[in-house]
Amino acid sequence: MRLDRFISSQKAELSRNDVRDLCRKGQVTVNGTAVRKPDTRIDENSDTVSVCGETLRYRRYVYIMLNKPQGVVCATRDGLSETVLELIPSQLRRKGLFPAGRLDKDTEGFVLITDDGALAHRMLSPRSHVPKTYFVKCEKPVSPDTAERFSQGIVIDGGEKCLPAELIQGKNDHECELVLHEGKYHQVKRMFEAVGNKVVYLKRVRIGGVSLSPELPLGGCLEMLHKDVEKLLSR
Ligand code: URA
Repeated sequence: MRLDRFISSQKAELSRNDVRDLCRKGQVTVNGTAVRKPDTRIDENSDTVSVCGETLRYRRYVYIMLNKPQGVVCATRDGLSETVLELIPSQLRRKGLFPAGRLDKDTEGFVLITDDGALAHRMLSPRSHVPKTYFVKCEKPVSPDTAERFSQGIVIDGGEKCLPAELIQGKNDHECELVLHEGKYHQVKRMFEAVGNKVVYLKRVRIGGVSLSPELPLGGCLEMLHKDVEKLLSR
């Protein structure tokens, strides 16, 4: 791969022109030697490239676990509100990142930010049946028949039928976990409305076989290890 292409693919803030200028200034090294020609070919898997003293670790794609706070929108840009991408620290920023799936502005929890479109598609496709688990607090006690109605596939407003979902009672009768296998618009809120209840707090706590890290504060990000990425797709 060309050196300038390599660097600008790994560092969101650097254009190829920036890389050219840095090369001219001797700020780019390959295996410890300053390289002044930005079109030099490198082996991205074995060469060590540093920019202004920072060594770049090549990753074809990145996978970031974000604990989304309320008030932030799942979009790449928004005229008014802060977006999930603005929460990504500079060392993880790169071109092409997007949130794989949406949580409502007032929902907290696990959002995957990646530049791997194929994985995102597999994770989100209803055909993949990847479970998404939500912690839910309701205005009224969760009635005993709610779990049964959700497990049958409840019909929500507008006549849409949901796939069967599992409800696990929480530590009090206003709280529960709900496991969905699809992602309709406002689905959790609409399911509880369909049984005469109202969601007052919602947090996504798990995608596939990966739980939101309990150590991750609201607004915090964690680069996922390669071995965990496939678990995002497990049923
Ligand atoms: N269901 C909802 O109602 N809102 C979300 O943000 C996610 C699932």
